[in-house]
Amino acid sequence: MAHLTSVKNTNVSWDKIETHVFAVGIFEDKLLSDTGKAIDTVLNGQISKALDSGAIKGKSGETTSFYTEKKQIIVVGLGKKDDYKEETLRLAAGTVSKYGISHKLASVAMEVFGGNSSSDYCQALAEGAVLGSYQFLEYKTTEKDIVELESATVLNGDENGLNKGTIIANGVCYARNIENRPGNYSTPSALAASAEEIGKEGNINVTIFDRDQFTEMGMGGLAGVALGTDEPPKFIIMEYFGASEDEKPVVLVGKGLTFDSGGISLKPAERMDEMKYDMCGSGVVFGVMKAIASLKPKMNIVSIIPSTENMGGAKAMKPGDILTAYNGKTIEVLNTDAEGRLILADGLAYASKHYDPEYILDFATLTGAVLVALGHVATGIMGTDEALIEKVKASSKVTGEKVWEFPLWDEFCEHVKSDIADVKNTGAPRQAGTIAGGAFLKEFVDENIPWVHFDIAGTAWGVKEKPYTPKKGASGEVIRLVLDMLNV
Ligand code: BES
Ligand code: ZN
Ligand code: ZN
Repeated sequence: MAHLTSVKNTNVSWDKIETHVFAVGIFEDKLLSDTGKAIDTVLNGQISKALDSGAIKGKSGETTSFYTEKKQIIVVGLGKKDDYKEETLRLAAGTVSKYGISHKLASVAMEVFGGNSSSDYCQALAEGAVLGSYQFLEYKTTEKDIVELESATVLNGDENGLNKGTIIANGVCYARNIENRPGNYSTPSALAASAEEIGKEGNINVTIFDRDQFTEMGMGGLAGVALGTDEPPKFIIMEYFGASEDEKPVVLVGKGLTFDSGGISLKPAERMDEMKYDMCGSGVVFGVMKAIASLKPKMNIVSIIPSTENMGGAKAMKPGDILTAYNGKTIEVLNTDAEGRLILADGLAYASKHYDPEYILDFATLTGAVLVALGHVATGIMGTDEALIEKVKASSKVTGEKVWEFPLWDEFCEHVKSDIADVKNTGAPRQAGTIAGGAFLKEFVDENIPWVHFDIAGTAWGVKEKPYTPKKGASGEVIRLVLDMLNV
């Protein structure tokens, strides 16, 4: 496991904890906590001297090391005291985990930085510790010098908060693993196997339709995209019923495109390898369901993942082809590289028809255009229900995963109307590409169901490193946001 899977809590004093490193925090006001003062005494005032001399400033992310006989001490900067919030602990704990890994120390321990040991703050602390411990090492066979973090211990934390944070972060790390595996490992069959694995763990019903079944059922979008590949495509459904069956479920739909070559509308070779990440929408769904399997909330949640590769070849769909989606609408395929919306069309239509959802959220690395608009900084969102969009924005503030709303105005919805079919899979040339994606998807959601679309093409990978996010590879963004929305 190249990440922590538990965070221990202890009430013994700091010097009794079995650990390579013990961390205390310091704000920019440079006042040590009681534990910090006790350690400073053992260190003959070395920390105080470093504070007085200005060597320690308390800036966020700063670490300063000291050595006692048995363990290293690090003083971690927490930033300004006035800015103290959950994120302060997430960042500090992530800093400690990364410090352990980079200094080849397999166990870390820490105080509850800043002293707020409420459940929410301890949840954030555990999230930071686990997320910061993540490394993707599955294909490293020769490097001997890698240390994995084996344990993290918190002094006088809140057990429930620590457990919840650990479970949520485990979900994110589980998703990062699936997302980081390349197309020859993370195939649609592998995604189906992950669904089965989570299903067993969490008493979640899993149904998987194969090519013949979903084609027969009328899922012309997924069937059309899958024409060009021999890798077996799957339509994956996970049903978690934690409340009575008559309670409306929340439905999550994730794009599980395990490699996007563009199809006949072939992508340029440069950075095409990154299209192994085109299943990160499904990664969000897996991360959420993994956490749900452990947290077992009293609510109903259904997840749907249409999954295939997008390849070119003698059997592949062609520009100009017309497909019929699960809700009967016809789609003119003007660019085979706009395939995500084709497979999501069936997922959204299936959700609308079979589940009477309270609301639907979909997640997809849908458009390159969202990167032009928001960079690797924020997820683009749009939807049909103001209250639901506000809920997304509120959770985004809690988890620190930025979202930005695009307007789904009628003018943009016109852009996806086709001359010869109901809709086309491209918008107006070089205009509002991300909104065109959303406008297209809207055609496949029942208009009475609140729905929000998340375009994560900029945030699923390539984001700037933070203490609790990796330097390279999949970020696992918006999983925490969705779990916050679900109020689990
Ligand atoms: N998977 C891509 C979107 C993407 C591109 C994600 C770059 C991350 C980085 C998607 O299937 C796609 O190719 N979309 C096209 C749509 C266009 C042809 C209308 C795009 O964005 O270029
Ligand atoms: Zn594409
Ligand atoms: Zn794609």
